Amino acid sequence: MTKITDLINKMSLEEKAALCTGAGPWTTTPVEHLGIPEMTVTDGPHGVRRAENITTFVEKSLPATCFPTSACMASTWDVDLIHKLGEALAYECIALKVDVVLGPGVNMKRTPLCGRNFEYYSEDPYLAGEMAVSFINGVQSKGVGTSLKHYAANNQEYQRSTINSVVDERALREIYLPAFEAAVKKAKPWTAMCSYNKLNGTYAAENHRLLTEILKEEWGYEGFVVSDWGAVHDRVEALKAGLDLEMPGPRERRVKEVIDAVRSGKLDEAVLDEAARRILSIVFKAAETKKGGSFDIARHHALARRVAGEGMVLLKNNGILPLKKHKRIAVIGHSAKEAYYQGGGSSHINPTQLDNPFEELQKLAGDTKLSFAEGYPKDESLDQALIDEACKKARKAEVAILYICLPATKESEGYDRPDLDLTSHQVALIKAVSAVQPNTVVILNNGAPVVMSEWIDGVAAVVEAWMMGQAGGGAIADVLYGKVNPSGKLAETFPIKLIDTPAYINYPGENGAVRYGEGVFIGYRYYDAKQVPTLFPFGYGLSYTTFKYKNPKVSAKTFKDVDGLNVTVDVTNTGKMAGKEVVQVYVHDHKSKLIRPPKELKGFSKIELQPGETKTVTLKLDFRAFAYYHPAYKQWITEDGEFDILIGASSADIRCKKTVTLQSTLELPSILNRDSTLREWTEDPRGMSVLAPLIQQMTDQMRDSFGGNEAIGMDPMGFLLDTPLMNLLHFLGSALPTSPEEMVDGFLAKVHGT
Ligand code: BGC
Repeated sequence: MTKITDLINKMSLEEKAALCTGAGPWTTTPVEHLGIPEMTVTDGPHGVRRAENITTFVEKSLPATCFPTSACMASTWDVDLIHKLGEALAYECIALKVDVVLGPGVNMKRTPLCGRNFEYYSEDPYLAGEMAVSFINGVQSKGVGTSLKHYAANNQEYQRSTINSVVDERALREIYLPAFEAAVKKAKPWTAMCSYNKLNGTYAAENHRLLTEILKEEWGYEGFVVSDWGAVHDRVEALKAGLDLEMPGPRERRVKEVIDAVRSGKLDEAVLDEAARRILSIVFKAAETKKGGSFDIARHHALARRVAGEGMVLLKNNGILPLKKHKRIAVIGHSAKEAYYQGGGSSHINPTQLDNPFEELQKLAGDTKLSFAEGYPKDESLDQALIDEACKKARKAEVAILYICLPATKESEGYDRPDLDLTSHQVALIKAVSAVQPNTVVILNNGAPVVMSEWIDGVAAVVEAWMMGQAGGGAIADVLYGKVNPSGKLAETFPIKLIDTPAYINYPGENGAVRYGEGVFIGYRYYDAKQVPTLFPFGYGLSYTTFKYKNPKVSAKTFKDVDGLNVTVDVTNTGKMAGKEVVQVYVHDHKSKLIRPPKELKGFSKIELQPGETKTVTLKLDFRAFAYYHPAYKQWITEDGEFDILIGASSADIRCKKTVTLQSTLELPSILNRDSTLREWTEDPRGMSVLAPLIQQMTDQMRDSFGGNEAIGMDPMGFLLDTPLMNLLHFLGSALPTSPEEMVDGFLAKVHGT
């Protein structure tokens, strides 16, 4: 008998019920006489928010490194770097006596308005999944746990505790679940956190399909499921659904409910035992890592600077950047002296130190004289005097650098942004300064896209510096002076305006429900399909050097889905500066039974190249790279046919294309049913063989009875093909030997072999 089974056998019902609810805001329930320790969990995801007093919920937290937020992490597209960041987080957890860090958050950025997007990676499930895998593997490689959150379809903060996310099965499988699935399968997070919202009518916390059938049974998840803080509505139902640990505690009433349910037979004790088993296995795993000591503050600050520098995205540059030896630079904007580096809510970190962007810039500026103007107020008020002062300073300088950040509490957990706008003061400031100073550079600090159409044409350069973490001030200076050659690429589309965004007419929902009406078409999948112009496309980012792609190759022109495909391309740094490029591979399916996005990211790689250097990038595309989820088959399917392999520098900058032919190895069951149309019967090989004689007879007969196109102004074949077989048989009426129902059922029996 294993140690854990033995312990469960020794535990009383009361002890098991108590174990499944926290002992405090951040700790699990210990059982001292059995040697079961308590386990400490803490937010997440870009730093360790360990409350000074672990028994309090919202209190000042102990100093920890505030790394760049996930939006910035994802823009690095650098899985090795994110692994390192994860390791550093683990060291801080160990020092701060934390067993599990509550992150990463892998929810899709369905709308750029979601207040919590800065805590999430991407609008693309593959990219988000890869980031999460590296993050989790990084943290867990040091014996500290993670919590994969918020599972699932929590894509807005508006009414997050009650909203019913109505998502069709295909969108769920192809867009909203794959990042979770990849993380579970490839990185095995110790814990997974359910979200607050309902999914298709059932709260995530009580959703058996989500927690048990998909997560645990289908994906083979072995860790435990924890509730988001306060997400449980019915404790007993939640346990039955697969929710192992309820947080926060203590909640005596809940424990009693569980005990009563077992005693009354409403809850099978085996369900409770299973939850206890899962929790205990993690509690003991966590205990294997000795906690305490300290962490290397300076090293982690340097790592935070590195990640920030790699994640910043150069959006526009007319050649002004990198900065040269200028005599005078005007630095404008209060966020140049007071860094805007993280968002609001549970992820808010008490940083170990904090860069002052102005001072960091001065360090690299050498003899260049930096002047400063406040530029804009901290709130949304207008103050013309600040604009006038900024223009005066900008005029006297050779370059103006505007540090623009969103108002402090605009981006936060718990609510969404009302718009994608900078303040009207900031817009007026940028326009006024760039009118007097053509060398105006805008640095943006925000956690998600802002609109720029009103001013972007007038400025010389724009750097998206994100919520950049505590060392972001230094990282901005690195990028501006070319100490770091920008290599970040957007992990989300920047729209021209809010009404262009995919979820616009299906957000934020009404009557308590939000319908994901755009289906699988979120992010670039939507902009591509509808050919909606964007401000900056997914995958986009400039560099101070240039890259040439050549010699694309695929391992086979015709291949079996299960074998996958290797794609290689040579990339050369054709500029004068060392730099990094993110090579992206998208797949386009020529023809499919269900509508598919024009292209989907299926591989990427970040490489570093010296001037003139060439490297060959190899990417492996597997079965899933070509498959899509077919709800009728209830599985991922591939279909025979041609695919384009698109290799590019962004989703809108495809440099090479190879066309390949896939051979599907799937033997799919027929999905014909009583409602299937004639077209569906003819497209199904088994359907066709069963029906062939009848179809011929029927179409001839119908064609005759329609009397040709002229009589009723329609193409009879078009009509026939999209009419269910059953209805057509009804037309034939008494000419049939049996009833249409019997006939169709007979055909179906042959097709399904029943
Ligand atoms: C958030 C989680 C967080 C938890 C604990 C919740 O409100 O949604 O992301 O981990 O609180 O702070």
